[in-house]
Amino acid sequence: MKSKRAEFFEDAIVTGPGQREFEEKVYAEQKAKRWSRVAKGTGKFEDQVVIVTGAAGGQGEMEAKMFAQQGAKVYMTDIKEDGLARVEAAIKDDGGEAVAFPMDVVDEVAWQKLVKKVDDECGRLDVLVNNAGICVNGSILTCSREDLNRMMDVDCWGVYNGMHYCAQAIIDSGGGAIVNICSYQGNHFGPGNLIGYAMAKAAALGATRAAATDLGPLGVRVNAVNPGLVLSDMTLARGQNRKGLSEASSLKRYALPEEIATVALFLASDDASFINGEYIAVDGGATTYLHLATADKQ
Ligand SMILES: NC(=O)c1ccc[n+]([C@@H]2O[C@H](COP(=O)([O-])OP(=O)(O)OC[C@H]3O[C@@H](n4cnc5c(N)ncnc54)[C@H](O)[C@@H]3O)[C@@H](O)[C@H]2O)c1
Repeated sequence: MKSKRAEFFEDAIVTGPGQREFEEKVYAEQKAKRWSRVAKGTGKFEDQVVIVTGAAGGQGEMEAKMFAQQGAKVYMTDIKEDGLARVEAAIKDDGGEAVAFPMDVVDEVAWQKLVKKVDDECGRLDVLVNNAGICVNGSILTCSREDLNRMMDVDCWGVYNGMHYCAQAIIDSGGGAIVNICSYQGNHFGPGNLIGYAMAKAAALGATRAAATDLGPLGVRVNAVNPGLVLSDMTLARGQNRKGLSEASSLKRYALPEEIATVALFLASDDASFINGEYIAVDGGATTYLHLATADKQ
């Protein structure tokens, strides 16, 4: 017999009819309602050099655009060359500075080449945003070792690689910040059918805290953002019931990518100058509300 808690998560995760229509309607409504968060900036990152991984779409694209609009030169990585070229062109059209550097965050040689290129061209590095990530469904019973390994590679080792290969350059520039895009799935609740993602994101959060302790004394703050459900290629591709999941947050909707990007920029900026080894949940209250919703059902 299934527990009430298992039933709750099952209800929240299984594919449901009409989800496509639902998400298109919500997305359209939200887009129409919300202001643009990539409007002209205030030069907050003027003269700074920033690396954003996974910048060919979703949150990474918004982070790259926002950093550029705030005056930074942005080096953008992704495995999707076309998407990177599109974002690079958009930033340049807008008068910003962007460099596309296609690479896999798992590839350590590529990281070394990227850091050398940034050093050769700019002589400094101020901010790293480890945003690239993947998510493959699978439970403790069904997830293949191949899928587990790939998620651990990208979502965990990719973050480690970024911090490991970029930290010295940021220290040499007089200090700066690293922001890791983790997930509420990594620390707050046990999502059904997402064992590999939960494992990898939990590891990335642990690495964030450990690196913060190592690098804080050297002038580099390391923090994480824990997004809730965000409308991006990642969630569109997966067969989730987005109506069920958005119902599980107290704002009753999912985030737009720019709503996560603004928090990444905050943590990267001097506005967050005394925040280190921390994560900020940007989940519309989901991690708070879930407990209440679950309790109500017991
Ligand atoms: N979408 C969500 O609901 C959600 C929720 C919590 C956390 N996150 C995390 O937010 C981050 C951004 O995700 P998103 O929602 O923008 O999804 P997305 O799929 O739109 O963006 C992820 C980007 O990472 C790139 N990428 C994947 N593997 C890569 C690799 N090995 N090397 C370089 N680039 C790679 C993809 O090509 C893609 O452009 C991810 O780390 C994701 O795990 C997403």
